[in-house]
Amino acid sequence: MGRIAVLTSGGDAPGMNAALRAVVRTAVFNDVSICGIEHGYRGIFDNQIRALDRYSVADIIHKGGTILYTDRCLVMETENGPQNAAELLHKYDIDCLIVIGGDGTFHGAQALARCGIKVVAVPATIDNDVSCSDRAIGFDTALNTAIEAIGRIRDTSSSHNRINVVQVMGRDCGDLALYSGLAGGAEYILVPEMPYDINEVAAKIMKGKEKGKMHSIVVFAEGCGDAKEICTAIQNVTDIETRATILGYTQRGGAPTAFDRILASRMGEMAVEMVLRGEVNHAVCYRGGEYISMPLDEALECTHEFDTKVYETAMKLSV
Ligand code: F6P
Repeated sequence: MGRIAVLTSGGDAPGMNAALRAVVRTAVFNDVSICGIEHGYRGIFDNQIRALDRYSVADIIHKGGTILYTDRCLVMETENGPQNAAELLHKYDIDCLIVIGGDGTFHGAQALARCGIKVVAVPATIDNDVSCSDRAIGFDTALNTAIEAIGRIRDTSSSHNRINVVQVMGRDCGDLALYSGLAGGAEYILVPEMPYDINEVAAKIMKGKEKGKMHSIVVFAEGCGDAKEICTAIQNVTDIETRATILGYTQRGGAPTAFDRILASRMGEMAVEMVLRGEVNHAVCYRGGEYISMPLDEALECTHEFDTKVYETAMKLSV
């Protein structure tokens, strides 16, 4: 068997380091040599590869970001990109690759698998848009970051009797908006999975005002539109002073929560164990509270199910 390599790719997510630690330590535990590819898939083309040992991953379980750096590698999306990457990996004597990242990273892994590289994919993205897994590494931390911010915004919203519109990350997936909206007690939640009407948002806020609500919070996913435009539209209809906050990259950094550290540790360990028993071209998934493996092609066919029940709960409780 050639060497095993690991990389992190796409948007970083808190807990990627904990996953790297688990991958490396499980390899070391099994006397298997492992190397890290820096800057995601780009590192394959740039030959940014280094050996990893137990000390390389010391003191990182609690750190946000990724010590291997990350990148969105457009070359992997070109026609010959994956084939060229596979040839380079063979040249480096790497025949098995563990990738840690989101949806784009999973598609890159699938392309490499079709070019003869053995891959195992581990979901890590604050968007939680890897449909085969209920949870991706980093989502829980981002969620906690968002609700802390919403709590602070709620204080000033209340003092000024304003409407505060809060934009969280999530281009195509509204999970971060949904759960931070529920946990943050938002009056309204806008997600890309559901169409919305700004007049309905305004009507609910006005109804709340008639009942004595002094301020309102609207949480929305970035995929729903522009923060300024949504803010202005709500202010125009309600005639209540409205302010917008974009939480942005604060959601991508910071120390991972206990949940993400445990998720990352279990998934990283499992990825190496799958490689060792030849269960490759698979994804590691957390489904229904269990850690399972799923063929990558099947994993990428899973469709994301937006939890309308949770959405209804949030809307009901903010009446
Ligand atoms: O990691 C996913 C994500 O956070 C999206 O929600 C967001 O649109 C995107 O990354 C922004 O990433 P970048 O600016 O680093 O490409």
